[in-house]
Amino acid sequence: MSETNFARTTVTAALIYANGPIHIGHLAGCYIPADIYVRYLRAKGHDVAFISGTDEHGVPITIRAQKEGTTPQEVVDKYYVQIRDSFRDFGISFDIYSRTSKPEHHEMSQDIFRQIYDKGGFVEEVTEQYFDEKAGQFLADRYIIGTCPICGNENAYGDQCERCGSTLSPTELIHPRSALSGEKPVMKPTKNWYLPLDQLQPQLQAYVDTHPEWKTNVAGQVRSWLTEGLKPRAMTRDLDWGIKVPLPDAEGKVLYVWFDAPIGYITFTKELKGDGWEGWWKAKDTRLVHFIGKDNIVFHCLIFPAMLMADGRFIPGADNVPANEFMNLEGDKISTSRNWAVWLHEYLEQFPGKQDVLRYALTANGPETKDSEFTWKDFQTRNNSELVGILGNFINRAIVLTEKNFGTAVPKRGILTEIDQSFLTDLAAFPAKLGESLDNFRFREGLALLMDVARLGNKYLAETEPWKALKTDRAANRPERAATVLNLALQLSATLSILAEPFLPFSAEKLRGMLNFNEKNWAKAGHPDLLPEGHPIENQGLLFQKLEDDVIDAQVQKLLDTKKMNELATKAPAPQKEIIGYDDFAKLDLRIATIVAAEVVPKSKKLLKLTLDTGLDTRTVLSGIAEHVSPETVIGKQVTLLANLAPRPMMGLESQGMILMAEDRDGKLQFLQPGEGVWNGGTVS
Ligand code: MF3
Ligand code: ZN
Repeated sequence: MSETNFARTTVTAALIYANGPIHIGHLAGCYIPADIYVRYLRAKGHDVAFISGTDEHGVPITIRAQKEGTTPQEVVDKYYVQIRDSFRDFGISFDIYSRTSKPEHHEMSQDIFRQIYDKGGFVEEVTEQYFDEKAGQFLADRYIIGTCPICGNENAYGDQCERCGSTLSPTELIHPRSALSGEKPVMKPTKNWYLPLDQLQPQLQAYVDTHPEWKTNVAGQVRSWLTEGLKPRAMTRDLDWGIKVPLPDAEGKVLYVWFDAPIGYITFTKELKGDGWEGWWKAKDTRLVHFIGKDNIVFHCLIFPAMLMADGRFIPGADNVPANEFMNLEGDKISTSRNWAVWLHEYLEQFPGKQDVLRYALTANGPETKDSEFTWKDFQTRNNSELVGILGNFINRAIVLTEKNFGTAVPKRGILTEIDQSFLTDLAAFPAKLGESLDNFRFREGLALLMDVARLGNKYLAETEPWKALKTDRAANRPERAATVLNLALQLSATLSILAEPFLPFSAEKLRGMLNFNEKNWAKAGHPDLLPEGHPIENQGLLFQKLEDDVIDAQVQKLLDTKKMNELATKAPAPQKEIIGYDDFAKLDLRIATIVAAEVVPKSKKLLKLTLDTGLDTRTVLSGIAEHVSPETVIGKQVTLLANLAPRPMMGLESQGMILMAEDRDGKLQFLQPGEGVWNGGTVS
């Protein structure tokens, strides 16, 4: 349902784990769409609270602490700041960005747990769970790794397979092993509190049925869960990092991270709104919208609503959950561990001030209905042909032509021609169209419409040719025509500043500065009289700059280097050969020789005929490196020669020794060369 039926909208964006920096996939999947939507609602004057923060509990945090050799607290303190700052730098306009480690959040989560408990909403059960005897710890969620029963991925987690996206429970894993010790775990009984999703299924089904408007990727996942039949799910864990279970007989147990994390939305609203917070979660005329990535769908569409229903004090679930799919990078899945990502803090170092370019490219390519892909080439094209070529170009022409011919003020409008009238009619239609796209979470479509507004401006200038009108007008001492055209072009610029605000907030602000126009009200967009005659304007330079090839190539090269590093890291080293005595080694006559001549052996692709000065003699060695080096580049090089290898006939020639080589990252062979100042003929020992 659209927000007009409601008094206010609580918009949440997923609480990201505070266990690493953030990358373009996070922005594209969740935060940019959320930010566009919220800025749009604000522009319509709608009451909205935009809530997010970091998720600081759960196994992802403790595993990270182990890897970094620090404590979970240090991990979350470090990444909370980094993540918060990245979002701020990219203009994600949260009303609050908080964290789940705050005492207020512990209280809120425990309060909701107690409420459900007191209402008899949990099922208490002792079950056998995996236990790592070496580590002395139960293995929940990501602490247990094994083969996914659905897709065969050998590194699936106890709660989820990241390859096929299935949600799992630890006992479903084939060949389970501990992420702590790698050991095979044993089974040990332990008590936990379960949310009986099976009993809540009819209520959940009814809730989902009232939302046929949900996106197909979301509805599809939810339907398949319901068809399979929901099972009780443990809301507590045997861990020491997390929120204590507020019951007397729950020593050493904490709340399941997926129990406490979504409650963070509520806690943070309270932090933001003070006493007024309840209206944002309890009032019937409040609408809740969750922005998330696809791996969070089940938690936001079924489990969190089930919690809210079991509690009974809140609106029972979101009105919409416009989840996105994933964004890939240059042909591969984004991966933190493989460093296959564009990190936001690094992007800003390399492209300072260009937040909107990334926002634009990520929105234009948003994974709204299926996985999408970011490439640097596409990024460059979007900048050069669209932002510079269409939007920036229009604004620049409108403002520069005005300043040059009429000074720093909006020129007077004369009589409107038919072209002008139809231009204004076309312009007036855009805000509603664009709004409809955003109301339905179609951000790519909305962005395309925004560019169509700029295209309309360019078309209008091309048709009316004010630069020509200026000449003929001047000749006739009648400057109205060009003045009229530029007046209307500036009206369109003002509309662009309103419509661009949700998508390109930094550029919209700059444009507002140039137009001395502080209106953000969506209802004003498309209006023909936004800037009165004589209103001051001021050119403040180009909105967007062209990106040259070398800048883009450097980014591509950086990823290629990463790929090579990864390949190198995963290349299994050859096993060590059997032990030999010194005597065996001493038998090898290794010495430094200099290549004095080189030619490709006729009719051979691989062989080079090298003439070596060994200090003792001048001899021929045939070496299979013609595909790796060219003859003219090797002359004069010092190499390492195994001089006493039995001569071998090859291609009608005789090879008198062997040159030592090693493979480089690219799989190319390189000579083993001595450092500076080594004697020719010097022996290697
Ligand atoms: N931390 C989770 C993730 O990064 C998302 C939690 S969203 C919330 O996948 F709803 F639980 F807060
Ligand atoms: Zn799988």
